[in-house]
Amino acid sequence: MRLIRVFFVPAEDSDALVQILNDIVLMPPLKLQEMGMRGKEWLMNNRSWDVIANIYMDSLLKLYIKNRDVCLLGIGGHSKVIVEILNLKGYKLQGLYDDNLITHNQEFCGLKVSGPINSFESGSGVIAIGDNKIRKNINNRLIKVNWETLIHPSAIISKDVEIGEGTVIMAGAIIQPGVKIGKHCIINTGACIDHDCQINDYVHIAPNTSLAGGVNVGEGTLIGIGSSIIPNIKIGQWSKIGAGCVVINDQPDNCTVVGSPAKPIKFHNE
Ligand SMILES: CC(C)(COP(=O)(O)OP(=O)(O)OC[C@H]1O[C@@H](n2cnc3c(N)ncnc32)[C@H](O)[C@@H]1OP(=O)(O)O)[C@@H](O)C(=O)NCCC(=O)NCCS
Repeated sequence: MRLIRVFFVPAEDSDALVQILNDIVLMPPLKLQEMGMRGKEWLMNNRSWDVIANIYMDSLLKLYIKNRDVCLLGIGGHSKVIVEILNLKGYKLQGLYDDNLITHNQEFCGLKVSGPINSFESGSGVIAIGDNKIRKNINNRLIKVNWETLIHPSAIISKDVEIGEGTVIMAGAIIQPGVKIGKHCIINTGACIDHDCQINDYVHIAPNTSLAGGVNVGEGTLIGIGSSIIPNIKIGQWSKIGAGCVVINDQPDNCTVVGSPAKPIKFHNE
């Protein structure tokens, strides 16, 4: 039985990934002393072979992408969570960009903010901004940037999942088979996305939300913290589903929805 999870890597790195997979198959599955305390603690709570394989794979990938440079666009609260993933994955933070003049020349993670986001023209970047429209605008403006896709090592992701560039998947998220996730989405801490959901570009799925199978979330929509959505619901684009909603009906575009059962309370222009 093969229990190794396949991680998302950019297409140009696929040869290296195949090499890593071959190495894992040839090597014994455990070298705990190389993993550090974090891996050991995790293992104590998850004594299954696929978790062991995941940790092992992750530590190898960390070695593989060591010193890979990346720039951070936006240095608000959300960026702290992004930096956590960058550190765990062995990326090297190379530059900071932010549009807030107050932050210019300020230090964050040992670096000074170089300038506004538009002044970052090319290289590898991550947009560390929670606002869905702002992420879309930045992606449309900075066409030469190579956007990194980040996955926290504790996320559990089926191998039958598509994930677009620039998307970030936070700690403890669970994503089941047949799910398609677009570009520059945020799948936040502990979110559960069940089989065959379609998450379109620039969507933010907030922490501790649960999407049952076959849910479709339109471009740019926010699913608020702690919401639940029953199977096969279609949610329009650029809408906001309020915190704690229980969504049992399809929802339109460009609206704010609250409550249980969730209903629109206002509509806005895109
Ligand atoms: C739904 C939401 C977007 C509305 O924000 P808003 O447009 O500023 O709306 P308001 O705060 O003016 O609230 C409008 C009305 O809806 C009610 N309301 C707002 N959010 C609600 C919620 N989650 N559940 C139930 N009622 C809610 C308000 O009490 C208010 O009612 P009133 O008119 O009777 O006084 C916001 O409250 C929310 O829930 N955001 C989720 C944020 C989130 O999860 N972010 C992820 C961070 S990682």
